[in-house]
Amino acid sequence: GREGIKLYPFVEDSFSRFPSQSNIYGLCQAGQQELLAATLKGKVVCFRYQELQQKIRPVAKEVQFTYIPVDAEIVSIDAFNKSPPNRGLVVGITFIKDSGDKATPFLNIYCEYEPGSEFNLDSIAQSCLNLELQFTPFQLYHTEVQCDDGGSETVFLLSGHDQRIHLYKENASLHQFEEQPVERFFPELQQLPSNVLWLDMLSVAGGQRLSAFGCQNGCIGLALVSQTGPEVLQSWRVQFDSPISTVLLFPLSCQTEQLSREEMFFKIGYNLLVTSTIEMAVVFRDVQVCGLSHSMCLSESDQWDAILCALVIDLDFDGQKEVLLGTYGQELLCYKFHVAGSGPDGQFKLQWRQSFKSPLLSIIYLDLTGDGLRELAILTLKGLHVLQHSLTSTADLVLELLAQRVSALTAGSELESAKAHNTEEGDAPAKTEECVSHTPTN
Ligand SMILES: *[C@@H]1O[C@H](CO)[C@@H](O)[C@H](O)[C@H]1NC(C)=O
Repeated sequence: GREGIKLYPFVEDSFSRFPSQSNIYGLCQAGQQELLAATLKGKVVCFRYQELQQKIRPVAKEVQFTYIPVDAEIVSIDAFNKSPPNRGLVVGITFIKDSGDKATPFLNIYCEYEPGSEFNLDSIAQSCLNLELQFTPFQLYHTEVQCDDGGSETVFLLSGHDQRIHLYKENASLHQFEEQPVERFFPELQQLPSNVLWLDMLSVAGGQRLSAFGCQNGCIGLALVSQTGPEVLQSWRVQFDSPISTVLLFPLSCQTEQLSREEMFFKIGYNLLVTSTIEMAVVFRDVQVCGLSHSMCLSESDQWDAILCALVIDLDFDGQKEVLLGTYGQELLCYKFHVAGSGPDGQFKLQWRQSFKSPLLSIIYLDLTGDGLRELAILTLKGLHVLQHSLTSTADLVLELLAQRVSALTAGSELESAKAHNTEEGDAPAKTEECVSHTPTN
């Protein structure tokens, strides 16, 4: 792999200040190229890049979602596109209406059933299902479930102060979402040890899913579940000493055996990143096999106050994902996995860190500009930063990968000139294409 890129690889493209502060549940992706950010004072801002006078510029515009009273405080927001064949956009917003003597929590679900309007945010914002809640809401999350008819459907999961997770699923014949018993689809989410602050799920091979939650009392739960049934195959718990801020499941290829210098076997292992408000971040390795028994700390990650948000993405295009952590101490940290020798072990090392001007609340990696290269959107207490990959180093990387490709092809054609039909397709071309399709936005 390339060891070169050790420095902060981003440049800030824009910063949008918000009228009031947000929180860790306040940012979501809505569709391919848009973000929704909710601020505490009941306002939702849609953030996108638009072409204006032949330049692509960031635009932050308030969206008027109906049935959010002026005295509401928004707690969480989430959005998804319905599973095929419908695909329409659904937005969920939880808030607390505080009318002085009484605070009432609500979940509003916005979705448009009129054909042709199901992707139009302004129409969707007018089409609301208003549900009063019996609990204080926390994270609003969505995931796909398998239905009895063999299809799949995306549902909302909402954790609450009542030590439960609530399921909201669309009733197709009624044309609206309704609460359903969570155990019907998520048997692993019954009898929780404490209030869940963060939930994450990942589909894995064989019609199974991994399901993880982190609680206010520091408990972590992990389960391997067969989607058909559904049935809990295995489950694990582990106790931390402070509230859990995020849990994140992610695949990481790990080198399991080295036969010779050229021939390595890689396998994908699923890992669980856990961040807490006081302790160091921890990655549990290969959880599908080891459960929560094999952990490694991300050293120094407790040095910048509580970790509030995390993301796992391949930032340097080397095929291996990096761990990003955002802290209350206004720092963005990037950890890279370093393989140790030929064994399966290794460690996460702090690759770089970058200071911001206020606490980091949420991170999303998406292609806002629509040029094929994704941006890093970071919600802080004050507003939204959009960071772009450095165009010069990305261009250098494209040239390097192309040169490698050319020399591999040349060597290949010399070696295999007899076999004329060699059409190998490795990782490199895909990566190269991802980079090549990028055009600078300004
Ligand atoms: C949809 O709602 C109707 C009316 O309440 C109910 O009879 C029906 O069972 C619901 N369908 C599903 C799939 O839950």
